[in-house]
Amino acid sequence: MDEQKKNMLSLIQPTNTPHLGNYLGAMQNWVRLQNDYNCYFGIADLHSITVRQDPAKLRAQIKESYALLIAAGLDPEKSTLFVQGHNCHHAELSWILSCYTQFGELSRMTQFKDKSAKYSDNINAGLFTYPVLMAADILLYQADLVPVGADQKQHLELARNIAQRFNGVYGDTFTMPEPYITKTTAKVMSLQEPTKKMSKSDENPNASVWVLDDKDTIIRKFKRAVTDSEAEVCAREGKDGIINLMSIYSAVTGRSFEEIEAEFKGKGYGDFKLAVGEATADMLAPMQAEFKRISADKAYLENCMKQGAEKAYKATRKTLQKVHKKVGFVVL
Ligand code: TRP
Repeated sequence: MDEQKKNMLSLIQPTNTPHLGNYLGAMQNWVRLQNDYNCYFGIADLHSITVRQDPAKLRAQIKESYALLIAAGLDPEKSTLFVQGHNCHHAELSWILSCYTQFGELSRMTQFKDKSAKYSDNINAGLFTYPVLMAADILLYQADLVPVGADQKQHLELARNIAQRFNGVYGDTFTMPEPYITKTTAKVMSLQEPTKKMSKSDENPNASVWVLDDKDTIIRKFKRAVTDSEAEVCAREGKDGIINLMSIYSAVTGRSFEEIEAEFKGKGYGDFKLAVGEATADMLAPMQAEFKRISADKAYLENCMKQGAEKAYKATRKTLQKVHKKVGFVVL
């Protein structure tokens, strides 16, 4: 670990394969960031069981998500790539921090309100304390920067409040984490309802492009993308579908909106959609090949996980010991 560099941390839930928005908005950026920061990237298996999961499927998804991080270009030597549940410090700090978090604060979390409405037959305590575990993830690693999407900002704010409160009572213990907002983040919308964000939980199979979709599937989904009744590729107001395809094409090819408009001047939406589909599939192809290779090598994957777990454990031992001492536990 390089002491000069700042710590960056983020976790993703292993439920569902990431979609194009996750790839362009998060995973691709993480790869760029791994040289500039001490990076900790994890798979949030503990968080995922706040809603009921099928065990065999969950296990497969944890491995898949982990392999995808490496396939996308994260280097397990350079960064710490870990599965949250492999480092027992997360659950332990989470318990302690829960005693420094108010019931009222957690009641105000919008994700809790949404999820308890959606899963009304299983409003378990974990769903309620979910943000405390997330605070523990962040504060354990003394993270300076946390790349998060808009939906997680309230949780990050809570982590900051918990850190401030704890530091206020016991003196400097936790680094105050800041949200990390990437400038270039492409906002990827649903291909079927282009005013809505592309989402992992969308029921419509044509709404999202999964990063492991094959070329034919990707092209088919783009061909079916909802656009408008005109036939002009340009970013005019009201053309949400076309604007979405243009942003994706721009993120994938690096071309500006003006260049794209020029490229498709006088051509129909069919040509444009095909081009977006092909470019997207071609961009994902090397990652997909790498994913296939890594997934077939079970020993390699397991070894990476073990090393990641060990690195994560070592990186967080000191923080937890400090916490134990401060709150008055007997440290052996
Ligand atoms: N709750 C986050 C999500 O669903 C995942 C997550 C868990 C996370 N722990 C984290 C993100 C710590 C950033 C930092 O997207």
